[in-house]
Amino acid sequence: MGNWKLNPVTLAEAKALTHILNDKIQDINDLLEVVIAPSFLHLSSVNDIKNTHIKLMAQDVSIQDKESGAFTGDVSAAQLASMGVDYILVGHSERRQYQQENDQILIDKITAATNQGLQVVLCVGEDAQQRQQQQHQQTISQQLHNVLTQLPEIKQLTVAYEPVWAIGTGLTAEVADIQAMHLHIRQQITAIYPSYQHTSLLYGGSVKPENVAGIAACADVDGVLVGGASLKPEQFLDIVTSFR
Ligand code: PGA
Repeated sequence: MGNWKLNPVTLAEAKALTHILNDKIQDINDLLEVVIAPSFLHLSSVNDIKNTHIKLMAQDVSIQDKESGAFTGDVSAAQLASMGVDYILVGHSERRQYQQENDQILIDKITAATNQGLQVVLCVGEDAQQRQQQQHQQTISQQLHNVLTQLPEIKQLTVAYEPVWAIGTGLTAEVADIQAMHLHIRQQITAIYPSYQHTSLLYGGSVKPENVAGIAACADVDGVLVGGASLKPEQFLDIVTSFR
């Protein structure tokens, strides 16, 4: 999954990026999903030109569990679903940090999204201090528990483990630590709902062509959530093909 964040500046650049991906992502393995998450402003145009092998994710959704209404500045799950969006990203550390999104906001957004049949990618991750103090597993358990126990069983849930200290920093977690955390996450979510055993678990945080092979080889890593490298089509394609 490519998270474009607040990039690129112009629609022309977003279209150009999509055209390059279209050319390269043609005959991918049926079991592999390639998903891109442009900004809201570019979603519609990207959707019009992307090929059918590429799925679309929105980086946010209105907290309101309403299709429409007097909610200035919001974009509803129904609007996104009607436009062909497949996934909604929830709980990214940048939104937790810059928009003060708390657990209740995540619960409400997940509810709004799933009520419209959208799939949800829930991000969790510890910060540098929590990792240094060996509180990373406890932090992640708490983040999952706070949200998942407040929701009915979600059919289409994906969880992305993104250590905050590894996002956009060039630092990546050690492969052994990634596998250990993913196993921990699988155990935690299965303890909440046994049917979550096959939930896709993604790793995110400075994933690049140079480090993706070790990450992809982890038994409990099912994919990656890529920020910076998803804006460089050659790099993104190298990452995609490492999961073939
Ligand atoms: P990054 O971002 O790949 O630039 O570290 C990952 C993310 O925030 O999803």
